[in-house]
Amino acid sequence: MSTFGTLFRVTTYGESHCASVGAIIDGCPPGLPLEAKDVQVQLSRRRPGQSNLTTPRDEKDLVQLQSGIEHGITLGTPIGLLVRNEDQRPKDYSETDLYPRPSHADWTYLEKYGVKASSGGGRSSARETIGRVAAGAIAEKYLKVAYGVEIVAFVSSVGKIHIPSAAVSPSNEDDDTTAEALSPEFRQLLSTVTRAQVDAHPTRCPHPQTAERMTQRIIRAKDALDSIGGTVTCVIRRVPSGLGEPVFNKLEATLAHAMLSIPATKAFEIGSGFRGTEVPGSRHNDPFERRADGSLGTKTNWSGGIQGGISNGEDIYFRVGFKPPATISQAQQTAQYDGTLGTLEARGRHDPCVVPRAVPIVESMAAIVILDQLLIQNARRTAAALLPPITTLPPTMVKPPESD
Ligand SMILES: Cc1cc2nc3c(=O)[nH]c(=O)nc-3n(C[C@H](O)[C@H](O)[C@H](O)COP(=O)(O)O)c2cc1C
Repeated sequence: MSTFGTLFRVTTYGESHCASVGAIIDGCPPGLPLEAKDVQVQLSRRRPGQSNLTTPRDEKDLVQLQSGIEHGITLGTPIGLLVRNEDQRPKDYSETDLYPRPSHADWTYLEKYGVKASSGGGRSSARETIGRVAAGAIAEKYLKVAYGVEIVAFVSSVGKIHIPSAAVSPSNEDDDTTAEALSPEFRQLLSTVTRAQVDAHPTRCPHPQTAERMTQRIIRAKDALDSIGGTVTCVIRRVPSGLGEPVFNKLEATLAHAMLSIPATKAFEIGSGFRGTEVPGSRHNDPFERRADGSLGTKTNWSGGIQGGISNGEDIYFRVGFKPPATISQAQQTAQYDGTLGTLEARGRHDPCVVPRAVPIVESMAAIVILDQLLIQNARRTAAALLPPITTLPPTMVKPPESD
């Protein structure tokens, strides 16, 4: 399936070496001020050739808005977004006519469809994510204008080099008094980090000391004709409470679906994640408190802004794991399509580590999910508001009317 979403529906198209890639968005609210530069900012953060840490494929990835917008305002009709593929070198892939690249998608695409694109990763190439990023930029603009939502993703690890995030584990494994899933320093970073801080370093890691070590790690992989993985953490601020469709489309499940559809992803965790499993409930629960504006909030946020699959109004944060990219120039012993054993030294221009470029892709998929869920919840609320007030149920069963 190349379509994602229910009311904000994104269909992406294109392969690595075809004429163009892009997206059709159906369901964008009408009346949104939108210009090509709103989309271009994120496409330029995703594009290849940004630094010596990414693939040198030289694509400008300039977007053309094809439909659905006039005089800088969305019409509510399908929006077509197109980016031409320009710097293609299909000859770089002549070896892979013989060999399916280990841990890439050449073999499985051929198994599934019985036919595959003649060169490059075809549909499995990261070129496909251009359509997602363009659509995500539009979703993000709506969220920002209408709700003040902020989405910031950043590189949290490369290989074994992490931003200091886990609190020091107690030396005694029975000591529950000091264990915490994330360090105060990392939680502070989550609540304050900005895109400007993220983009201040080519790694897109907003922790300068760690960023330098990450650079060296990526260059070491590149010099060894190898590759390395990493993680991207994302925080979404000012999301209204009530988003998410339990039980099968719980908000974290939909976010996980969106994130794990990005090429090269291997892992997803929400809030305290796997580290939260090591902490007792008494230190992991998020107690409620009354805020200055009279609303209820939570004192801590180990839940990552989602409880019961529904946003609770706190910051949503999650982490996505990316594998080391599969195409490496180092010699690999493997089998050809016909089973002949041999050595593959893949040519072509490839990312030694995908996480710096994955940052805007993660942000975009997050924006698409949040806007889609918001439109669904708003439709439900609008329908319910047309009914007479509920007066026959015990007060504990009904949400009190909101005071403005
Ligand atoms: C931003 C980005 C850049 C990527 N660059 C490369 C690359 O240069 N070489 C490569 O082999 N894979 C690259 N990938 C990953 C492949 O697209 C992906 O591993 C492949 O389609 C197989 O799919 P899977 O890893 O999801 O199983 C990249 C992924 C992303 C998100």
